[in-house]
Amino acid sequence: MKTEQIDDQSLRRLVEAFYARVRTDDELGPIFNDAISGWPEHLDKLTDFWSSVMLTTGRYKGQPVPAHMKHRTRITPELFERWLSLWTETTDTMMEPTAAKSLQDKARRIAQSLQLAMFFRIEA
Ligand code: HEM
Repeated sequence: MKTEQIDDQSLRRLVEAFYARVRTDDELGPIFNDAISGWPEHLDKLTDFWSSVMLTTGRYKGQPVPAHMKHRTRITPELFERWLSLWTETTDTMMEPTAAKSLQDKARRIAQSLQLAMFFRIEA
């Protein structure tokens, strides 16, 4: 059954399903598996992140830009497309359409701003 309600429980289940999928992906999997040593902690952090983004709980205190900058040599715009397509797949499978769409819109906007921070340079 698909979930309508975006709450801590459904976000947790979504984050778990998404990263389980990401970890087995040929292109994204190796980057995450090399970078993340403690998966339970990472899943807690990402649940806090989505809770802050969708429910404005303020639970996430991190800095996504420097966290991704560290992996700048391995992350490409094409990989962002891959990430977003897996996120779309997971949210469509687990959530009712309205909730899925709002999670997808949010992710697309965040992916856009991460990419601007990572790849856009003004030459002096
Ligand atoms: C952290 C990879 C896209 C949200 C990370 C980390 C990796 C990673 C390797 C761990 C960083 C570290 O501690 O060394 C990627 C890749 C992406 C991608 C390969 C796409 C190509 C996104 C998007 C979002 C996101 C689109 C949000 C919608 C986060 C957050 C963290 C994180 C919140 C935790 C940052 C912190 O430590 O506070 N990501 N990511 N990522 N990612 Fe991504």
